[in-house]
Amino acid sequence: MAFIEVAGVTKAFVTSSGLSREVLYDVSLSVERGEFVSILGTMGCGKSTLLKIISGLVAPDTGQVAIDGEVLRGIRPSAAIVFQNYSLLPWFSALENVRLAVGAAFPDWTRGRQREQAVRHLESVGLGKAVDRRPGHLSGGMRQRVAIARAFAIEPELLFLDEPFGALDALTRDSLQQELSRLCSVAGRPITTVMITNSVEEALLLSDRILPMTAGPRATLGAPVAVELAKPRSAGELLHDDHAAEVRAHVVASLTADLERARARRRLDGGRPSRRTAAAAEGPALRIAPEIEG
Ligand SMILES: Nc1ncnc2c1ncn2[C@@H]1O[C@H](COP(=O)(O)OP(=O)(O)O)[C@@H](O)[C@H]1O
Ligand SMILES: [Mg+2]
Repeated sequence: MAFIEVAGVTKAFVTSSGLSREVLYDVSLSVERGEFVSILGTMGCGKSTLLKIISGLVAPDTGQVAIDGEVLRGIRPSAAIVFQNYSLLPWFSALENVRLAVGAAFPDWTRGRQREQAVRHLESVGLGKAVDRRPGHLSGGMRQRVAIARAFAIEPELLFLDEPFGALDALTRDSLQQELSRLCSVAGRPITTVMITNSVEEALLLSDRILPMTAGPRATLGAPVAVELAKPRSAGELLHDDHAAEVRAHVVASLTADLERARARRRLDGGRPSRRTAAAAEGPALRIAPEIEG
């Protein structure tokens, strides 16, 4: 059994108008310990929803997630999550933001030791001189560095990344991707990572496997593509690598074919209500949302 086992996960949301929208349908996935997996898909297809389910923030409607053989019931203490919007506490300094997380992960440590751990990890992302600044006095790139330092400072076994660099400018994004790649390879023990991204290049740079996600509604995962290149990798070397070119072409073709299928499906449905969910069948108040153009 793999370290993370996601089996038959479905998730629907009821919209404000009482319609039920099936976002995820029958999603299964296995991730080995120490593996770095990227889930790649278009906006709105359900990537964040899936990551929230895999990390234990949200429960699936059906199906289950098991980590290390145990069915997940909430966030594991050994898991770190990095979101696109930094999610730092604005009234605390960078140092306090990281130290608080360290304190939650290692409550038995003295405050001094927690502080040292926080400083060391802030230094490792180049923020040694900015530890006393509050998030409002840091650039977007620096805030995301704090979020990454905080994730690594708890010495996580599991790392969940939801488009961690999506809000950054291209240059900052490139340097932070390199940073992340380095941190993953120097960490003392294997970190199992699931990253959501909408960038093929980002997925290529960091992943052992790329999983294309189909367009929603009823999104699921397509066939995985392995990236068999030594790590850490650089964006420059990926540009000229034949295997990288193959993977890139394969992933793009898979996503494009799926989008075409989704469009054809919508044309065929012609605005008719689509499948009824079990919930909809039970209650007359629930109808199915018309499929939304992606
Ligand atoms: N808590 C929620 N309640 C209702 N609808 C939601 C909720 N979370 C997500 N959705 C809907 O589910 C779909 C997928 O959202 P999300 O997982 O955030 O997509 P992605 O991360 O791929 O952009 C969207 O249509 C979104 O509006
Ligand atoms: Mg998202």
